[in-house]
Parts: sequence; C-alpha cells; structure tokens
Amino acid sequence: MPPPPVRLCFVCLGNICRSPQAEGIFRHLVEREGLAGSFEADSAGTGAWHAGEPPDRRTQATSRRRGVPLSGTARQVEPADFDRFDLLLAIDSGIADQLRRLAPTPAHRTKVHLLRAYDSAPDAELAVPDPYYGGATGFDEVFDICWRSCEGLLAQLRQAPG
Ligand code: 4NP
Repeated sequence: MPPPPVRLCFVCLGNICRSPQAEGIFRHLVEREGLAGSFEADSAGTGAWHAGEPPDRRTQATSRRRGVPLSGTARQVEPADFDRFDLLLAIDSGIADQLRRLAPTPAHRTKVHLLRAYDSAPDAELAVPDPYYGGATGFDEVFDICWRSCEGLLAQLRQAPG
C-alpha cells in the first residue's frame, strides 16, 4: 500500500488572494513533479467575509497569465481542520497566531508553520504581503513569493514527509 498523502492547508485572511494562490502553485508543482497522490492541498481563511466566493479576479488573472489557473471557493478555517490536515501553512505571523489560538490541543498547535519559512529568499518578517488594497504589482509579488515558498516546502516534504 502506498503511504497516505500528506495533507496541507494554506491559510490567509480572506481565502481569496494569497492562500488560493499558494494552494494552486503547490498543486501545480506536485503535478509537475509527478507526485499526484502523495499530497493533498486545500486553503482557507481566518475570516468568513468572502466565504463561497471564487479567488479574487486580480489573483486569478495574474495566476492564469503565469500558467497556474485557479479554481475553488473561499471558506473559513475551522477547528476540525487541525485533524484533517498534517500541516497548516500560515501566510504571515498574525495568521499563525490566530491559528495557534484556534488549535484544539498543544499537539495540534505544532502543525502551524509559516509558509515563508520555506522561501529561498525570505524577508525578516516571513510575511506574504496582503495585496488586496494595493496595486497590480502586488499580485505578481505574491505569486513569486508563493512559488519560491512552495518549491522549498515541497523539497522539504520530499525529504521528510509529514
Ligand atoms: P487574502 O486577502 O487574505 O490574501 O485573501 C484579503 C482578502 C480580503 C480582505 C483582506 C485581505 N478583506 O479585507 O476583505
């Protein structure tokens, strides 16, 4: 029997810009490496304002132009996600703090990691900047950061799954 897939959930605030972008890139890299079946990826937001919506049209446009079409609808993270997933990848430290407060037990809390901890070119805050109220270049920056971080994350997981 093959080992069960490693399950990951990328988490931002609204689940319409940054975390769907990271989820889409991670899935893309997994398929490119021929690793479908070894990983499952999802995303969620700590807020519920955009639940049920598709990714932000600016995120969709940037991602499509760069070869990673996105799908899915936004949802709010819930305590059951700490059982459902092996890792919860927070988009910045504020989201990581929120997730740790939501974790049902200390063991669940250890599943929370910062996505940018896997970035080969990190900044000091390890934050994926929120592009929602900024200009168009913010979406390309988010794409670049998520791409590098997901490459680093996947490389790490291939060495030491889970
Ligand atoms: P995200 O971006 O957390 O990357 O999905 C945001 C989306 C919506 C809002 C803020 C950030 N908002 O305030 O509605």
